[in-house]
Amino acid sequence: MAMTMPELTVVSDAEVVASPQLGRKVLETRTLTKSYQQGKVVLDGISFELHAGEFVAVVGRSGAGKSTLLHTLNGTIPATSGEILNVHKDLSTDNVLSMSRKELREWRTHCGMIFQDFCLVPRLDVISNVLLGRLSHTSTLKSLLKIFSDQDKAHAIQLLKWLNMLPYALQRAENLSGGQQQRVAICRAMMQKPKILLADEPVASLDPKNTVRIMEALQKVSRDGVAVMVNLHSIELVQEYCSRVIGLAKGKVIYDGHPSGLNDDVLHRLYGDEIDQIN
Ligand SMILES: Nc1ncnc2c1ncn2[C@@H]1O[C@H](COP(=O)(O)OP(=O)(O)OP(=O)(O)O)[C@@H](O)[C@H]1O
Ligand SMILES: [Mg+2]
Repeated sequence: MAMTMPELTVVSDAEVVASPQLGRKVLETRTLTKSYQQGKVVLDGISFELHAGEFVAVVGRSGAGKSTLLHTLNGTIPATSGEILNVHKDLSTDNVLSMSRKELREWRTHCGMIFQDFCLVPRLDVISNVLLGRLSHTSTLKSLLKIFSDQDKAHAIQLLKWLNMLPYALQRAENLSGGQQQRVAICRAMMQKPKILLADEPVASLDPKNTVRIMEALQKVSRDGVAVMVNLHSIELVQEYCSRVIGLAKGKVIYDGHPSGLNDDVLHRLYGDEIDQIN
């Protein structure tokens, strides 16, 4: 069943696109560790801060712990020790490691994640998929009946417009290209109005044109004041789009700074002999 769309003029573009600037601290990790099995450390004492408006890449060779890091931040994989602090506006903090299931669900609305397979509902139209991002704020029955407020619908339309996906609003998600699905997944995550957006290899399966579109979309999200953190395998993309890069090797941070500081020495420490295979 197609959804009736409210007028486009309900919310102006100006409210979405803010100027790029580094904002307040939104998250801090302190000596974060993760072992899936006893004695095998995957994240080894990781400490960093995340700020609103940053576009942070996490790089490192396969098995370095990049996906594990993102999943522990959002609480989908429990960390073993250390702290992941949700930093509130008044600078008070909550530790993700000690959150109850209910608190974790709430945390994930603030710390959204885009999964590699997008997790869209294939037979549902694009706008409904985006509206499902409001699921945690809407009763299950209302969601099943696709009853969303006009405000939510306006926000979904605004987001689709923002990422140039409005012409596809009424198409089924299954009929979209990988890059288009990825953009819908970003819109769905943004429906929660998260302060942090995580993406595990968001451009891994995309052609160069769609890669550019997604990197631009994520950059736009960060410029809107969201702290964006993505795992990437291309140093070229990191240098072109990201404001900061965290380099992981064997579960340790060996570089944290501006992408321009990724010199041959750092890259060699990150990738070793695999250095020729990147980019
Ligand atoms: N569920 C799991 N159980 C046990 N070990 C795991 C599990 N998930 C990951 N690992 C191990 O943890 C280490 C880090 O894995 P992770 O997936 O975080 O690496 P990555 O940096 O994302 O690698 P890639 O670039 O290949 O995606 C690897 O040695 C991996 O085998
Ligand atoms: Mg990974």
